[in-house]
Amino acid sequence: MPRDVYPKVEVSDMTIRALCEDDLPEVLDIERQGYSFPWSESVFRGCFRPDYRLWALDIGDGLSGYAVVAYMAGEAHLLNLCVAAGQRRSGAGRRLLRHLVAESARDGMSQVLLEVRNSNDGALDLYVSEGFSVIGRRPGYYPGGQEREDALVMALQTRTRVSGLLSL
Ligand SMILES: CC(C)(COP(=O)(O)OP(=O)(O)OC[C@H]1O[C@@H](n2cnc3c(N)ncnc32)[C@H](O)[C@@H]1OP(=O)(O)O)[C@@H](O)C(=O)NCCC(=O)NCCS
Repeated sequence: MPRDVYPKVEVSDMTIRALCEDDLPEVLDIERQGYSFPWSESVFRGCFRPDYRLWALDIGDGLSGYAVVAYMAGEAHLLNLCVAAGQRRSGAGRRLLRHLVAESARDGMSQVLLEVRNSNDGALDLYVSEGFSVIGRRPGYYPGGQEREDALVMALQTRTRVSGLLSL
């Protein structure tokens, strides 16, 4: 089956919009479901800046996921991508990722960069299936239990993707 078909659950009422500060209580709830070391409220508040893009994905009338992207030196850095635990594997993460890549391209960013935990197989699979390549490794980048964990650095050139994505 082609990788860009949503194969698990058909969810037709997904919408993407700009995240706003009023969403933060739901964001913090989803964030705590998603990470062992979640961002604090103050970290999220610090992301409401002109050079950041914050995207919200609603399913029905509730927030189900979000993405935080920083624009720096002509490149988009994906800092956070998270979907509510009960809404995963329904295409929400892929939808958010495609949206932020298309918007980054539209805003003139040459590539999208991200870090992902070496052990985060689900996220790695998503990024690879959307065309991201591993371009480096940051040893001990993430806090862990006993030991810190490496990050893989991944990149996607937006020029190669934009023509297909702008129609989404
Ligand atoms: C990673 C994350 C955003 C994916 O969101 P999602 O809505 O479940 O993803 P999708 O339904 O769009 O899945 C897209 C693809 O990702 C991969 N994937 C996602 N979750 C997976 C899992 N648990 N195991 C294996 N592959 C997985 C699959 O390739 C999937 O495609 P498929 O459904 O055709 O097999 C979500 O699991 C999440 O929020 N995790 C916690 C936070 C996190 O780790 N964020 C990434 C930080 S770098």
